[in-house]
Amino acid sequence: MTNAALCANLHERPTLPDEDAARSALSPRSSARSTPLRRGERAPGTPWIVVRPLGKGGVGEVFEVEHALLGRRAALKALLPANTERRGLAERIADEGRILARVRHDNLVDVLDLGLLSDDGRPYLVLELLEGRDLRAELGRIGVLSVPSTLAIASQILRGLAALHRAGFVHRDIKLENLFLCDDGRAKILDLGAAEPASGSEGPGARGASLGTPRTMAPEQFEGKPVDARADLYALGLVLYELVAGRGPFDDIKDLDALRFAHLDRTPAPPSWFAPQPIPAALDAWILRALEKDPDDRFASAEAMAAEIPALVAPLYTPTPREAEDTTPSAFSPDVPRPRERGVDTTRRAVVSALAIASLAAGLAAGRLLGLPSSFGRPVNDPIASRSV
Ligand SMILES: Nc1ncnc2c1ncn2[C@@H]1O[C@H](COP(=O)(O)OP(=O)(O)OP(=O)(O)O)[C@@H](O)[C@H]1O
Ligand SMILES: [Mg+2]
Repeated sequence: MTNAALCANLHERPTLPDEDAARSALSPRSSARSTPLRRGERAPGTPWIVVRPLGKGGVGEVFEVEHALLGRRAALKALLPANTERRGLAERIADEGRILARVRHDNLVDVLDLGLLSDDGRPYLVLELLEGRDLRAELGRIGVLSVPSTLAIASQILRGLAALHRAGFVHRDIKLENLFLCDDGRAKILDLGAAEPASGSEGPGARGASLGTPRTMAPEQFEGKPVDARADLYALGLVLYELVAGRGPFDDIKDLDALRFAHLDRTPAPPSWFAPQPIPAALDAWILRALEKDPDDRFASAEAMAAEIPALVAPLYTPTPREAEDTTPSAFSPDVPRPRERGVDTTRRAVVSALAIASLAAGLAAGRLLGLPSSFGRPVNDPIASRSV
């Protein structure tokens, strides 16, 4: 794709703001020879010096970079050279940048810049540098996450999704590789390269099967039907399933047609069938509800799914008598109704839930988890829980 075509296509897409600003920022340059991005060298035409590779997906390559003048570190995501001619991918990176610039949230990676490399005109994004690892890497390292860790991550990811959905977008590629667990305990959504306006919002409506990852695609995406926020909840259900069970429901299936059939027609076994740790029945049911074939049978929204987390967390956690007296609302989870906001009759359950979620967040940040009941035994192979303080 040429710079001129990129700019023309950006102009044709009616669904994002700041079209004119984006066009002028992405002014065309001539040249088509790609130079691989190498350690110690500048990304062509940018002030960013490559420090090390961070990751590579089907669409882009991501590097840690340092600003030549300011010394500030960031992550630079550029379209893979091999994808330069693949229709639509350059615009996807530009759209990703502009969606992130518009929907800023603590649980979404932040974008700092969008431009074109000067040698071949590949688009690149400069993103905040996240310290930690994506959930695929985390799972590869430890095998399975404890239930409390998984719920603490789910709570944060659902908040990021809720912000994205409120702004009218569907991510459409929620998967372990695109969710990042920072060393400070924050979880962030990455890679909005497949994001689209949701069906029902302004614009053309999200297309179904055109982009996404087959293993984590919702049935309606497989069918090419319009998708909305509930497709992301399905994909998140698969992520949570794999986090607690160490495998997905359809991991035995290697063939694409059979995988499609499974997503459309096969009822997944509950995660507890495969999990090497005890899974509460309520957690099984919560995850399976996200995995319903018909979007109408899933949670109606990310907020609705998140609203059930306190009830899942409360039985995992027994506060000390001193903690039980402390009704300070959780800063971690504003989604949890504050005890006083629920009315005069503050229930002990609400207090316990808020305390429990705050503790889980603190545990993630500190590299340990609090209040794991003995019935759960030791969390299976989970350094988040077992790391010493
Ligand atoms: N801001 C960041 N800070 C640190 N690491 C990052 C950052 N962004 C991405 N990464 C790492 O790079 C990997 C690839 O990034 P990303 O998913 O955005 O690329 P992609 O090519 O669009 O992927 P896909 O194949 O899913 O389309 C991520 O899984 C993550 O490990
Ligand atoms: Mg990715």
